[in-house]
Amino acid sequence: MPIQVEHLTHTYLPGSPFSATAIHDLCLTIEDGEFIGVLGHTGSGKTTFVQHLNGLLKPTVGRVLVDGTDITQKGVSLLDVRKKVGLVFQYPEYQLFEETVAKDVAFGPKNMGLSKVEIDERVRWALVQVGLDAAQVADSSPFELSGGQMRRVAIAGVLAMKPKTLILDEPTAGLDPRGRRSILEMIRRLHAETHMTVIMVSHSMDDIAPLATRLLVMNRGELVMSGTPREVFRHRNELKAIGLGVPQGAELCWRLREAGVPMPDGLYTLPEVRDAILALAGLRPATEADAVQPNAAQSSDAQSRNDQVDAAQSSAAQSSAAQSSDAQSSAAQSSEGPADAARKGANA
Ligand SMILES: Nc1ncnc2c1ncn2[C@@H]1O[C@H](COP(=O)(O)OP(=O)(O)O)[C@@H](O)[C@H]1O
Ligand SMILES: [Mg+2]
Repeated sequence: MPIQVEHLTHTYLPGSPFSATAIHDLCLTIEDGEFIGVLGHTGSGKTTFVQHLNGLLKPTVGRVLVDGTDITQKGVSLLDVRKKVGLVFQYPEYQLFEETVAKDVAFGPKNMGLSKVEIDERVRWALVQVGLDAAQVADSSPFELSGGQMRRVAIAGVLAMKPKTLILDEPTAGLDPRGRRSILEMIRRLHAETHMTVIMVSHSMDDIAPLATRLLVMNRGELVMSGTPREVFRHRNELKAIGLGVPQGAELCWRLREAGVPMPDGLYTLPEVRDAILALAGLRPATEADAVQPNAAQSSDAQSRNDQVDAAQSSAAQSSAAQSSDAQSSAAQSSEGPADAARKGANA
């Protein structure tokens, strides 16, 4: 069953001189198994929006239905809601407090009144899901772990409730590039393997582009775009106007078009941009082997063989490819776009 958001408006400190409407008349439905990317500039209302989906915030106007139940009504158990919708806060590691990792992850299942056996099983399962070795970390203090590991423990604590929907508010904030890639890969795998609904808040197009099946773009508390990544990234100028960019592949395409290169519309992954450039140059399209090794294919092929693209443009292509090849590599396992692959996962 979906999550339905009906005319959601949220005003902080209503009636006071500091009153601020953070969300204005939001209407949307999130279907089971979707991977939603919530995008928007800082202050656009992303956090306020997602905190309504598990009852943490109450709407000033409107309602939120989870599996058909209006969770904003009095008498609805928030524990029941949180069994269905798990929310991982921004910088969730600050909320760790137990003396061991196992106890911290067990906190939610314990509150659910599960048996010890079931709790232990869930703790192990959740730690595996976030890529931690339970035998190694379960009895450690969470505060002895690295920042990235602490974040994984915090995510495991939400997963251990086995929610049908997992919300992550800026899960890569403050991590170094390697930490970011590894958290994003973990989230991708989780969605592909468990088919849970994932709602990820981000302000990075490059983080979200290879993962999401649908993007919601917010600006000043309003939903201004909703669509597949391919649909949304066609609106490069509108996105720029509200302080957002497009993924590197889409930006490269746009600049090539601006320079007179007849690139097709709607491309945004680096492998598909590379293939389009090769096709324009009358060269072979990428083979499976190229797709498996995106680094090699993106740098040497695109640069040395495409004489339609001048030197400056192709070096832009190369550095662009180098910067985001990791983000793209999971998607580049097949020749289809990452969103298509993710969508397949969702529908499987
Ligand atoms: N607790 C709060 N009290 C008052 N205003 C708030 C509070 N939290 C957020 N806001 C305001 O609501 C707006 C949306 O904030 P937020 O939902 O945090 O946006 P985002 O997550 O997109 O950065 C901002 O103008 C912010 O200043
Ligand atoms: Mg926020």
